[in-house]
Amino acid sequence: MSPDTATALAHPNIAFIKYWGNRDATLRLPANGSLSMNLGRLYTRTTVIWDENLTEDSLTLNGAAVSGPALQRVSAFLDLIRAQAGRRGGARVVSETNFPPGAGLASSAAAFAALTLAATHAAGLELDAVALSRLARRASGSACRSIPGGFVEWQVGTGDADSYAISIAPPQHWALVDLIAIVSAEHKSVGSSEGHALASSSPFQAARLADAPRRLDLCRRALLTRDFEALAAIVELDSDMMHAVMMTSTPPLCYWQPATIAIMHAVRAARARGMAVCYTIDAGPNVHVLCPEAERQAARALLTGIAGVQQILESEPGGPARLLPNRL
Ligand code: PMV
Repeated sequence: MSPDTATALAHPNIAFIKYWGNRDATLRLPANGSLSMNLGRLYTRTTVIWDENLTEDSLTLNGAAVSGPALQRVSAFLDLIRAQAGRRGGARVVSETNFPPGAGLASSAAAFAALTLAATHAAGLELDAVALSRLARRASGSACRSIPGGFVEWQVGTGDADSYAISIAPPQHWALVDLIAIVSAEHKSVGSSEGHALASSSPFQAARLADAPRRLDLCRRALLTRDFEALAAIVELDSDMMHAVMMTSTPPLCYWQPATIAIMHAVRAARARGMAVCYTIDAGPNVHVLCPEAERQAARALLTGIAGVQQILESEPGGPARLLPNRL
């Protein structure tokens, strides 16, 4: 197999403390630090083939050729790698994913983490985890959190050199489960890149940012001590704060559907009855319901009974992005 080819796999991640807003949009330096868990059952697997004879890059996702803005975004990112590796020509990128892309499931995180690892390796660059995370950040902020494994913190940093993600606990640290209630698998109308740019137009963003170090501390501590009650409180608060910013931006963004709100109420009510569950929602209508492994069945039953829940994906904590034997 040609050394110009590599295949990598990466998992999406669900943020417990969210990233929303950039202080530098080009470098994708975040306005606040964030904390997440990789989703081991979900993945994107990507093969990159560099070819000097190609004049353009190409992208295939789940068997279909992709063009337009999605391909341009990949090409712009590959330009960074071309420059770093001194490469000419184009790349063929072939990607497969086992979950619906574009529905607020952090599909870009897994996609760009896998692309970063496959494209750099195929280009002959041997980057360590820090360098990979920094580079993945340039493609999609949350992608930097899909490079390390398990439970991950993206340090806000002072600049490009120190804004990257590190693992704070391995996947086996805590048997948490993420039940993802899909209420719509449609592509979201406003993507997160556009959303980040609107964040500072909300009068609530400054308050959200000022309080971020406190929420990060509480979340990190709850995670490291496996304190579900404390985790639930801070994860829901952080998600609600991000959505409050979204809803009060100019123009406003509201990703929730009626079923989204029904799930939020059902989860809160179940927790009040003593069930260990909590919710968190990214830039889409689907709801991530977190619980300890022991509550998985009960949480699944809770979600199955809610009108508008079309499908439930389930995942335990996952490992880091990794290289696989070449597939093409
Ligand atoms: O990495 P992006 O630009 O797709 O932003 C992700 C934003 C959220 O998913 C809403 C929050 C997060 O921290 O993952």
